[in-house]
Amino acid sequence: MKSRFYVTTPIYYVNADPHIGHAYTSFAADVLARYHRLRGDEVFFLTGTDENSQKNVEAAEKRKMPVQKYVDEMSARWRTIFDSLGITNDDFIRTTEPRHRKGVEKFINAVQRSGDIYPGTYQGYYCVGCEAFVGEVDTVDGKCPIHQIKLKKIKEKNYFFKLTKYRKKLLDHINKYPEFIQPETRKNEVIRYITDFMEDVSITRQSQKWGIPFPGDEKQALYVWFDALVNYLTGIGYGLDAKKFKKFWPADVHLVGKDIIKFHCALWPAMLMSAGLELPKRVFAHGYFTVNGEKISKSLGNTIDPLAASQKFGIDALRYYLLREIPFGGDGDYSETRLVERYNSDLANGIGNLASRILSMAEKYADGKVPKHVPGSAAPTWQSYELKMKELSLDGALSDIWDLIRTLDGFIDREQPWVLAKTNPKHLQATLYTLLESLRHVGLLLWPFMPETAEKILDSLGVLESSRQNNYDKNKSWGTLKAETKIRKTAPLFPRRDI
Ligand code: MSP
Repeated sequence: MKSRFYVTTPIYYVNADPHIGHAYTSFAADVLARYHRLRGDEVFFLTGTDENSQKNVEAAEKRKMPVQKYVDEMSARWRTIFDSLGITNDDFIRTTEPRHRKGVEKFINAVQRSGDIYPGTYQGYYCVGCEAFVGEVDTVDGKCPIHQIKLKKIKEKNYFFKLTKYRKKLLDHINKYPEFIQPETRKNEVIRYITDFMEDVSITRQSQKWGIPFPGDEKQALYVWFDALVNYLTGIGYGLDAKKFKKFWPADVHLVGKDIIKFHCALWPAMLMSAGLELPKRVFAHGYFTVNGEKISKSLGNTIDPLAASQKFGIDALRYYLLREIPFGGDGDYSETRLVERYNSDLANGIGNLASRILSMAEKYADGKVPKHVPGSAAPTWQSYELKMKELSLDGALSDIWDLIRTLDGFIDREQPWVLAKTNPKHLQATLYTLLESLRHVGLLLWPFMPETAEKILDSLGVLESSRQNNYDKNKSWGTLKAETKIRKTAPLFPRRDI
C-alpha cells in the first residue's frame, strides 16, 4: 500500500508581500513534498493565507481599501508568487473561505462539547504584531519586546479556552513521542513554557469586527490563532469531506518558524485533544534568516524579494543556497555575496562542471551513447540521504549529494579517461558507464531540492519522464541506465557569475 504524507507550512499573514524568510519555509516544505513524491508516496502539501488578522485590517486601512478586497488581492498575489517560485502545494487554503469557516464552526462545537470554553474577563496588554497577549512582565517600557510598539491595555468580556486543563496530557505526549517537537532545543523551550507559564487563553475579541464570528455569541470575533490553526484540518476537508480528511490526518509534519512554536506545540495540540482529534506526528521549527546580519523588517527596508532573487540567480540556485547555507533548524544570514560564492563553488564548479565533464566524455569517447552495463553501487549515498531526509536534515542530505559529486570528480581525475582512450578502451567504456549511471543517481537525489536542474540532467541521460516518480526502489538501485541510450549534451547548467 502507498504511504501517505501530509506536510504543511504556516499560513501567512498578507499585510505585506512575501520575503525570503517566507520563501524559505515554503521551499523546505516543497522539498519534503517532492521527496515523498519521488518515493511514490501519496502526498498532500498544504499552504495558504491567514486572513482574519488585525494586521491585515490595519494594512487595508492604510491603503484605504475594504478589508475583504485587500485580502482577496493580497492572497492572490502570494499564491501567484509561490507558483512562480515553483512551489508544488496541492491546495491553498484561505481562512476567509466558507470551507474554512464551516470547519472552524464544527471544531468549536467539539471543543464546547468537551466543556473547555468558559466566559470571563480579559484584562491586559495586546500586541497586534504578535497577535497575542503580552504579559505585564514581558513588556518593556509599555512596549512589545519584539515589535517595539506601544501596547494597548484592553479589558473585555471574552470566552476562554481551558488550556491549563491539558498541561499534564501535553507533557505526557511530548515525553512519550520524542519526535513530536523538533529540534531538541525547541522542545525544551516548549516544556518550560507548558510547565511554568502556560495559562488559559482568551479566544474571542469583543471589540473586533473582522474575523469569524464566535459560534454561540456572534457579537464576538474568534481569536485569529484559534481560527488559523484549524486550517491544517479544513485544508484537507474537515467538516466537508470526511474521506479525504481521514486519509490525510494526522499530518506528518507541520513545518513552522521558531517564532510560532508555542502556538503549534501547546495551544494546537491542546485544541486537538479537546476536539477529540489525533495530534500531528511532528512539528519541526526551523530557524530565522537575517539579512546582512540584521533582522528582516519592513521598517528597516531590508526585505529581500524572493521572486527577484530567483529571477536573478534561478530558482534552483536560490533553493540550494537557502537550504544549504544553514543547518535546518538553526539560524542564519542571507547575503548575496555569499550566495554568489556558493553558486560559483558548489553549482558552477560542482554539479555543473561534473555533468558537463561526464556528458562531453560520453559524446567524445562513446559516440554519445550509454556503454555496456557494469556493476556498481550507489546504496551508501541513498542510505545516508534517506536518513537525513527522515531527520529533516535538509542541509545534511545536500551535503551527501555533494560528497558524491566530489567523489565522482576524484574518480575522473584518477581514471583519466583521456589517457584510457589511448591505453585501455575497454576500461574506458566501463568507466563511462559508471560515471553516467552515477550522474543519474545524482539527478534523482537532487530532484527534491533542485527540480529544474535534476530534470535537465535526467533528460540528457534519456531517463524517461514517466519513470522518474515511479518505481522508487528500482530507480535508486544500480544499473537502470540502459546500454545504447542516446545521450544529449545540455548547455552549461550553471554558467559562472561575477560577484
Ligand atoms: N499567520 C501566522 C501563522 C499561522 S499558522 C497557523 C504567522 N504568519 S507570518 O506570515 O508572520 O509568518 C509565518 C512564517 O514565515 C514563520 O513561522 C516562518 O516560518 C516564516 N518566516 C517569517 N520570517 C522569517 C525569517 N526571517 N526567517 C525564516 N523564516 C521566516 O506567523
